[in-house]
Amino acid sequence: MTSKYARFLYQICKPTGEDGKLVTACKAHAELCRTAAGEGMVLLKNSNGVLPLKQGEKIALFGNSTIDYVKCGGGSGIVHSPYIRTVLDGFKIKEQEGKVSIFKPLSEYYANELKKVGREFMPHQDYALVDEIDIPDDLFRAAADFAETAVITVGRLSEEGTDHTVTKGDFLLSEKEEALIDRLCRSFKKVVVVLDMGIMIDSSWFVEREEISAVLLAWLAGMEGGLAIADILCGDVNPSGKLVDTLAKSFDDYPTTAGFNESEDYVDYTEDIYVGYRYFETIPEAYNRVNYPFGYGLSYTDFSFEGIHCADDGKFVTACVTVTNTGSVAGKEVVQVYCGAPQGLLGKPAKVLAAFKKTDLLKPGEAQTLALRIPISSLASYDDLGKIQKAAYVLEKGEYRFYIGSSVRDVIEARYRLVLEDNVITEQLETRCAPIALKKRMLSDGSFEELPLGENKTYNPQNPASTAKAPEEEFMFDKVGETVTLDEFIAQLTDEELVELQEGHDSTGIGDTGSIGGIKRLGVPYVTVSDGPAGLRTSRECGILPTAWPCETLIGCTWNTDIAERIGKAGALEVIENNLGVWLAPGMNIHRSPFCGRNFEYYSEDPLISGKMAAAEVKGIQSQGVAPSIKHFACNNKETNRSYSDSRVSERALREIYLKGFEICVKEAKPWLIMTSYNQINGEHTTAKYELLTGILRNEWGYEGATVSDWDTKAPHVKELLAGNDIKMPKGEKDSLRAALESGEICRADLENSAKRILELILNLAQV
Ligand code: GAL
Repeated sequence: MTSKYARFLYQICKPTGEDGKLVTACKAHAELCRTAAGEGMVLLKNSNGVLPLKQGEKIALFGNSTIDYVKCGGGSGIVHSPYIRTVLDGFKIKEQEGKVSIFKPLSEYYANELKKVGREFMPHQDYALVDEIDIPDDLFRAAADFAETAVITVGRLSEEGTDHTVTKGDFLLSEKEEALIDRLCRSFKKVVVVLDMGIMIDSSWFVEREEISAVLLAWLAGMEGGLAIADILCGDVNPSGKLVDTLAKSFDDYPTTAGFNESEDYVDYTEDIYVGYRYFETIPEAYNRVNYPFGYGLSYTDFSFEGIHCADDGKFVTACVTVTNTGSVAGKEVVQVYCGAPQGLLGKPAKVLAAFKKTDLLKPGEAQTLALRIPISSLASYDDLGKIQKAAYVLEKGEYRFYIGSSVRDVIEARYRLVLEDNVITEQLETRCAPIALKKRMLSDGSFEELPLGENKTYNPQNPASTAKAPEEEFMFDKVGETVTLDEFIAQLTDEELVELQEGHDSTGIGDTGSIGGIKRLGVPYVTVSDGPAGLRTSRECGILPTAWPCETLIGCTWNTDIAERIGKAGALEVIENNLGVWLAPGMNIHRSPFCGRNFEYYSEDPLISGKMAAAEVKGIQSQGVAPSIKHFACNNKETNRSYSDSRVSERALREIYLKGFEICVKEAKPWLIMTSYNQINGEHTTAKYELLTGILRNEWGYEGATVSDWDTKAPHVKELLAGNDIKMPKGEKDSLRAALESGEICRADLENSAKRILELILNLAQV
């Protein structure tokens, strides 16, 4: 009889596709990649309708990244895909279809010059980009004589472990890029810019410059990205991506910039809940410091919002709106509902995203009526200082206004208002993870209030001892659920076996990040885990080259949870087909600052977008019997000194902003695994923070899955175990666990509790 765990134990070759076909990087996945990329790219500028390009338009393609196309980020974001469709590839297809005519000598020149510096096309993107190559005058003139339109692709790499800086070639244009763009603006009638990057680069240069006719923020769009870019520029796809972050006028305008590099040891989250648009929409002086607001994105058609109607049933507010495509091409629109809560005693952002939905593809003249439901309790604010009721979520009395539209600024206020005569406590919690060193925080008028400083408590968790008895006869893991219970199985494990379950082991398959589980004697398989958010990261040498999906930020910009779920499902099929069980995705930290080097692995500055998108992706992944690992729990918003950096944050901002997305995902999708982060929160490593992992995550949210540390976290293993972190990766500190068991610092029940969660995860995994 075939073993239940044959995939993990024997690394069998069994495709997961219908009709027994392999799905890894298959055509259907490539198509999904292209569709998603086309839905998440954001058209920022389109003066005089220069886009889409006209039929047969003559174009010249500039910029190294036309060929040296950045499809993904580095670190856990790398995917070694079988190919990358570059921007040039995309336009070549359009040329074959008669849609454009490319000035070939220029593209050939780029290809040759890039080859000379070792930058010819490679499917593995783990190297640094080179600065723009110089274009000889005669070639440049010939390009300008041939083409009316220049399309320049500007690329940037991002990678975990490093943050972005306000330097030329990073957040700012390099001198060579600047010179090239100047030259294009002088010589071409139309200049179209494609931003091939996972960061919110400085936008002032293209906002201010009239000669730059159009700008497409294409993000890191995966292995089909170049095709999706050409689809949009040629009008085969009508852009419907909307920003999930605010693009400010200058990097200095973000409230997080001033303190970002103040210290390598800590970051003070003094802006509190006023992150991203919550800041720019609320603080009067900030309002005009925005180039592109949250939720913004252009289309090739127009939409009207009519018949706005809101009502409530005491539990939900339902907002209805009819969206009509009033233009001449088919397109999709995103309906965004914002709520403005009364300022009250706690102070609130002027607007907070309360619900969103994307329409279907609407033909010209076609209309769709959407109904969006908002739980009234989700409009409550957390009172951490007891201005109304300490440690409670409160709906303050007063009027709640609702705004419906297509960006945070392009909205219509509904006539309906939710009016509360009295304050309503929606949830009474306990003070947890309160600051010990953050001295002040911003209020809704831009002033600051002082914060009382507390201390971290010590906890002595008492895990209840199991009452299960091991059956007389030894039995194997694959009998769990059939003839014996998991508790009985755990009862027969030795202390040493329990200790071994708490740590990672070497990879047994093609993943390159290690494995979990593994008790050979009793048939518990080693389950290999694998990065990361943009697709399955395999060891390059193994020759398996999976689909490279668009990055999380692009997926966020689709505002389409269905796309996120489909990517989760398709990606998981590739994971299981390659005999891996855990996919270390999705990343879902908040874009607190544009400088965080890992923003591309995360969705948004807004917790609702992050939570809903992650929940959808997790549902897709788990539907295939693969464990996701949402990460990094929590406040991993800076990469410099990430193993020690202390995120000093108020309890309110923690709960309303930084934990909220995780909370939504945990409650809606029940993920089987959560990865804790490298950093500290309020003076303690998250891996060893009992109030976070047990107090909030398990006791308040009811999380029943397992937790895994990020790789090489710095807290002692014993503390991590006691706090509620189940697995230490890539290796644990077994000697210290053994010693703690001996001294009574930990007991067998502590090990059993974690073991149960880890084994439950393995039991959930899809088998042959
Ligand atoms: C870390 C990264 C994690 C995880 C891990 C395994 O560096 O922060 O997100 O994926 O590596 O490769």
